[in-house]
Amino acid sequence: MSATPGEANPVRAFVAQLWGSVFRHGLPTNDKVAARTALTNFFLHIHPVRVKKSAVRVSYTLCLGGLSFFLFILLTITGLFLMFYYIPSVDSAYQNVKDLQFVAVFGDIIRNMHRWAAHAMVITVWLHMARVFYQGAYKPPREFNWVIGTFLLLITLLLSFSGYLLPWDQLAIWAITVGTNMAKYAPIVGPYTRYLLLGGDQVAQGALIRFYVLHVIALPLIGFLLMVVHFWRVRKDGFTGGL
Ligand code: HEM
Repeated sequence: MSATPGEANPVRAFVAQLWGSVFRHGLPTNDKVAARTALTNFFLHIHPVRVKKSAVRVSYTLCLGGLSFFLFILLTITGLFLMFYYIPSVDSAYQNVKDLQFVAVFGDIIRNMHRWAAHAMVITVWLHMARVFYQGAYKPPREFNWVIGTFLLLITLLLSFSGYLLPWDQLAIWAITVGTNMAKYAPIVGPYTRYLLLGGDQVAQGALIRFYVLHVIALPLIGFLLMVVHFWRVRKDGFTGGL
C-alpha cells in the first residue's frame, strides 16, 4: 500500500503514507518484490534475502544464537529493574539484595529471572558455539564472525563473573579474591591488572564500584556493539543455510 496523491480522505491518506514509509514494497507476491521487501526493511534485512528451506528449520540452528540474544535482552530489562533497588556500596549492597528478595513487590521474581537468564545465557552461547563448530560454519568466509563470536563468549563470561560479586556476600568476596589473585600471576602485567580491577590492594569499596560499572555499563555496551557487528556479518557472509 502506498500514499495516493489526491486521496479524498485525509486520515486514510495519512495512514497510507505512514504504512508506505515503513513497508515500502507491499506484500511479497513474487520473488522480486520479496527480495526488495527484505532489503529495505531493517528487521527482515538481518537474514539473507533467500535461504534454503532446510536452513530455516528450527532443528538447523536450534535457534541458539537467537536464544542467546533473547536472554541478553531479558537480562538488560530485569537488570534495569534491579538497578532501582541496588546501591553499589559495601554498607548497603548485601541488605539491598535481601530486601529485593524478601520485601520489594515482585523483587524475588525479577532477581531470579536475572540469575536464571544469566546461567541460561552461558549455556546457550556455549551450545551455539558448538553448533557453529560442528556444522563447520567457522570456515571462510565466516572466520571473522567466529572471532567476533569468541569475544562475545568472553563478554558473556565476564558479565556473569562481574554480576556474581554484586550481592557482596561471602561467596562474592571470596570469588573476587580468587579471581583477582589469579590475574596477579600473569607475567609482567599481573600485579597492575589486579590493582586496576580492585582499585587498590584489597577487596573493598573500590572493587565493588569497578565491577558494578563493568557489569552495568562497559560489558553490556561492548557486548551489544559486538552483537550488532555479528548479526551484520551473518547477513553479509550469507548464513550457512543461505543459497
Ligand atoms: C552473545 C553471544 C552470541 C549471540 C547473541 C549470537 C547470535 C547469533 C545469531 C542470531 C546467529 C544466526 C544463526 C543462529 O541463530 O545460530 C549467529 C550465527 C553465527 N554465530 Fe553467533 N552469537 C553469539 C556468540 C557466538 C560465538 C561464541 C561464536 C563462536 C565462537 C559465534 C559464531 C557464529 C557464526 C560463525 C555464525 C554464522 C553461522 C552460520 O552461518 O551458520 N557466535 N550468531
